[in-house]
Amino acid sequence: DERGAVRRDLAGRELLITAGGTREDLDPVRFLANHSSGRQGWALAHAALVRGARVRLLAANVELETPPGAERIDLGSAAELADAVATHRSRVDALVMAAAVADFTAADRAQDKIKKDDGDDDSVPSLALRRTQDILRHSVLDRADAEYPVIVGFAAETGGNAASALDLARAKAHRKGADLLVFNDVSGEVFGSASNSVHILDQTGEELAASAGSKTAVAHVVLDELARRLPEVPW
Ligand code: CTP
Ligand code: CA
Repeated sequence: DERGAVRRDLAGRELLITAGGTREDLDPVRFLANHSSGRQGWALAHAALVRGARVRLLAANVELETPPGAERIDLGSAAELADAVATHRSRVDALVMAAAVADFTAADRAQDKIKKDDGDDDSVPSLALRRTQDILRHSVLDRADAEYPVIVGFAAETGGNAASALDLARAKAHRKGADLLVFNDVSGEVFGSASNSVHILDQTGEELAASAGSKTAVAHVVLDELARRLPEVPW
């Protein structure tokens, strides 16, 4: 997006962007994970830097080079991400939750590698899981002032079709209460790909904008909506 590329409308702003996918250890050698590559979060970071923002990236298992100029903090699990967000969110102008956060983690991480029973080919261990903190929801509830920071969530849905996925996203926008919810339909080939298709919803589920194309183009459209919600700088 060339308009975004020349406009330094985020100068003096600081964005906290989570990216990638968390990993939940089951034992010393295994974990529960997801397909998020971190590319959409990275594209948001690149686009925000170009527009003059300072960017702190909380990267969950991302194998991409740090965008030049961004401050990067690497972490692994949902609990580590929750701690990092709690530490950094109060000093930023916007929190962008692009990371795919595990909803469940092991109730008890095994100290030793979980073994299979060689004497019984039918026996399988059962994994006890517990819920993780909903970082986005938590951040919305914890926001001290109604204006700071702007909070952006993402929703990956696989509905039966695009329309029903969008309905799920509208309901999620209500539940989360973030200022913006970026819905993307992950029925197609989104993970690891350079392109994306999104609908940007407000907290009532109303559609504000839609964008399809490169993750960079999508990032600029998200930042356009985010920038509109930042309070005026008093100088
Ligand atoms: N999210 C979060 N903490 C979690 C789970 C999700 O902060 N423990 C955030 C994600 O970063 C994303 C948004 O919530 O910005 C929506 O994530 P999504 O997985 O689509 O929604 P969930 O509420 O977890 O619902 P479900 O997975 O059941 O569809
Ligand atoms: Ca989830």
